[in-house]
Amino acid sequence: MSFNNQDSNNQPTFADQKRKTVEVAEFTEDGRYKRKVRSFVLRTGRLSEFQKNAMNQNWGFYGLEHQNEPFDFKKIYGNDNPVVLEIGFGMGHSLVEMALQNPDRNYLGIEVHTPGVGACIANAIEKSVKNLRVICHDATEILRDCIADASLEGLQLFFPDPWHKAKHHKRRIVQPHFVEKVIQKLTQGGFIHMATDWENYAEHMLEVLQQAESLHNTSETNDYIPRPDFRPLTKFEQRGHRLGHGVWDLYFTKK
Ligand SMILES: C[S@@+](CC[C@H](N)C(=O)[O-])C[C@H]1O[C@@H](n2cnc3c(N)ncnc32)[C@H](O)[C@@H]1O
Repeated sequence: MSFNNQDSNNQPTFADQKRKTVEVAEFTEDGRYKRKVRSFVLRTGRLSEFQKNAMNQNWGFYGLEHQNEPFDFKKIYGNDNPVVLEIGFGMGHSLVEMALQNPDRNYLGIEVHTPGVGACIANAIEKSVKNLRVICHDATEILRDCIADASLEGLQLFFPDPWHKAKHHKRRIVQPHFVEKVIQKLTQGGFIHMATDWENYAEHMLEVLQQAESLHNTSETNDYIPRPDFRPLTKFEQRGHRLGHGVWDLYFTKK
């Protein structure tokens, strides 16, 4: 199916616009273009008509935009339930599943890959999931600009891009400054749950999380935890299983 750039009135649809605006140029204070190291490369995957329609027709309910002030979660979800943030939800299967299984929590998913955002919304509609909102933007900017301090119950980061080559390790989203920013956004007792199928990235995650003094490792062996039942298999993980990869889960709480 070809990617149709315009609707029947020859206008770009909402989903098309979103693909164009997800990466925004940054400038220094004196107006010079600033190159930013990103944790992702925008893939050119096509939006199916189904994903595109799901996005175009339901963004008003499911979609949030980047803004320069903190989100008002009570207004957004219509309740005071704790909010769990998931970064890089891919196609959103496990995120929708978790939202379905935990109706007393609100979920906020961030993903830059537009077809994944469309697929996630379509899946949420199919399962009548209402405690979920999604954002199509760089998560580091959303954390910085749109999330109030001490407002998240948890952060989920499942199978982030591992950036295998050493020269690309700076692109890994898990860095000390990222973890410090996440801690700032967590409530006391809030959690950080990460999983990866790349051992070298797992070691890196462990090292960075262990260095944060305000975090407590829930692992009995002071490293990884057994895969918890409450984390549904993600699409990426299923692929890893087929390839015989191991999986490492890390679960820390804020002291
Ligand atoms: C390897 S995939 C894993 C997807 C999913 N969690 C799974 O397990 O199937 C990593 C995802 O993170 C997304 N991603 C990477 N950096 C991101 C960022 N800074 N903001 C939002 N999404 C990001 C990518 O687009 C990609 O879909």
